[in-house]
Amino acid sequence: MFGRIAHRYDLANKVLSCGIDIYWRSRLVAAVGRSRPRNVLDLATGSGDVAFAMARGLHPSIRVFGLDFCEPMLERAERRKARRLWLYSGVDFLLGDALEIPVGEATFDAVTIAFGLRNMADRARCLSEIRRVLKPEGRLFILEFSQPRRWVRPAYYLYLRRLVPTLAGILTGDRRAYEYLGYTIGGFPRREALSEELRMAGFGDVSSSPMTMGIVAIHEALRQPAVS
Ligand SMILES: C[S@@+](CC[C@H](N)C(=O)[O-])C[C@H]1O[C@@H](n2cnc3c(N)ncnc32)[C@H](O)[C@@H]1O
Repeated sequence: MFGRIAHRYDLANKVLSCGIDIYWRSRLVAAVGRSRPRNVLDLATGSGDVAFAMARGLHPSIRVFGLDFCEPMLERAERRKARRLWLYSGVDFLLGDALEIPVGEATFDAVTIAFGLRNMADRARCLSEIRRVLKPEGRLFILEFSQPRRWVRPAYYLYLRRLVPTLAGILTGDRRAYEYLGYTIGGFPRREALSEELRMAGFGDVSSSPMTMGIVAIHEALRQPAVS
């Protein structure tokens, strides 16, 4: 599905979020920066938006790896990198499955996943893999849709279920992919439930910050030595 929309994925993001996604990603990058990592793995990197934002916003010595299992998305990311190689030379892309991350354990100081956890076929397995590749005391940062405040929900879901598929159908030619978006957002756990899943998966120091009336949230968690 992501392969079908890759050619217009970035444009659709900007239009459908009215550009606010740039702000959401910048908040994610700022949170990662505060943890002072030396290397970061960006899972479900797609066309590389978060990986590139980290290359621009964090110290140039930080190595960033973007992983995705969708080749057309990664091809797009590689083309974007090639256009600004002087800025993005510290970013590398890997083809791979987030449910079986092709790197050894305790490799990364930080893992980011933006609008990707919701799409994982097996969320518990993905969290277990993230925990495996994080160094002890390494940090996980999740940027994901959440449940907006009660009073905005009617308008929000109307937008998501009616307007978004129509607009996205025009922009990407694939209305069904964006009907799926509304479905996955509705089915994704609320902040408290996701925090509990993170604790169950062996993470500690779990926190979350809602943004834009709760439409999205940043979740942070620390890799703890052993699953409790
Ligand atoms: C909505 S896009 C998010 C892309 C990017 N992180 C962003 O912020 O725009 C979700 C991405 O997750 C990827 N994805 C879904 N399941 C995956 C898996 N098991 N392993 C690797 N990538 C996966 C898809 O290929 C797609 O590129």
